Amino acid sequence: MTTTATAPTRDLAIAATGLRKAYGEKTVLDGIDLAVPAGTVFSLLGPNGAGKTTAVQILSTLIGADGGDVRVAGYDLATQAHAVRAAIGVTGQFSAVDNLITGEENMLLMADLHHLGRREGRRITAELLAAFDLVEAAGKPASTYSGGMRRRLDIAMTLVGGPRVIFLDEPTTGLDPRSRHGMWRIIRDLVADGVTVFLTTQYLDEADELADRIAVLDGGRLVAQGTAEELKRLVPGGHVRLRFTDPAAYGSAAAALREASRDDASLTLRIPSDGGQRQLRAVLDWLDTAGVEADELTVHTPDLDDVFFALTASPTSPASPSAPAAPAAGADSKETVR
Ligand SMILES: Nc1ncnc2c1ncn2[C@@H]1O[C@H](COP(=O)(O)OP(=O)(O)OP(=O)(O)O)[C@@H](O)[C@H]1O
Ligand SMILES: [Mg+2]
Repeated sequence: MTTTATAPTRDLAIAATGLRKAYGEKTVLDGIDLAVPAGTVFSLLGPNGAGKTTAVQILSTLIGADGGDVRVAGYDLATQAHAVRAAIGVTGQFSAVDNLITGEENMLLMADLHHLGRREGRRITAELLAAFDLVEAAGKPASTYSGGMRRRLDIAMTLVGGPRVIFLDEPTTGLDPRSRHGMWRIIRDLVADGVTVFLTTQYLDEADELADRIAVLDGGRLVAQGTAEELKRLVPGGHVRLRFTDPAAYGSAAAALREASRDDASLTLRIPSDGGQRQLRAVLDWLDTAGVEADELTVHTPDLDDVFFALTASPTSPASPSAPAAPAAGADSKETVR
């Protein structure tokens, strides 16, 4: 069942308009439009409870929507759910791995569910176990796997049926940096093979790294959509960050640099800057003139964190500008550093 899309969805792997879902009084998705071209990575970002998993569950036919038109892999979700299911793979936020059996048995079980037949099932299982670096662990009960191994097995199981569209709900949450990068490589390889990946994540760098397009979900609505670059342009986040370890030095720097915004808890000052050489030199000159010597100076160009906080967080972002009148030496600083 891997016919190419017959419907007039052009090359969209996922096309949704007006997607709605409520649980009782609570509206979780409040009319969402999505357009994901085939063979691309689309990332849905949003804070806890934004509705990411709900969106994945609806798009992958696990739960019904209350309204909206959705086509996945060219099929209508409402009337051709069966065909949708045959074309997709889903790795949920929580593992689908059966702990009581081995990794290999988990894979063979999936092959059975896809009616692959013994030989083909074994072939695919061997191929995927190798691709996901699970050959050694294949014969051991999944209960003995580490979180990263379990996550890899989970995704390998998703791929058994050769899906053209895969949904990954926070695939790298809880993975160490090496495993995360391994997962990114897996995702890139999938896309290189023409698979479409719909990914939710809490990690903005992950969306930045992988996604062709990113949508930010908040309060049931998509509050922004675009490429990482487009989203970054939405917010002014560029600044030079000065970090101090000595509260007294921090206090006098804050008093001297009134234009800087303060974060008293972490003894850091932020000076708006586009990160360009000319501006940076101006900032450094200014620091020299003010006699300020920070323990650490970092240049921060706007990233998706800035977008995320600007678009989804409560009005106060973590390092919010504080009262303009900087008090004398850091008497109000929390001395947690020492
Ligand atoms: N079966 C359900 N019954 C009632 N409310 C639900 C149900 N499933 C989800 N919700 C609510 O819908 C909202 C969105 O949940 P969802 O799991 O989609 O969020 P999420 O963006 O995936 O969050 P997280 O980042 O924490 O995984 C939450 O407020 C949640 O409590
Ligand atoms: Mg979730």
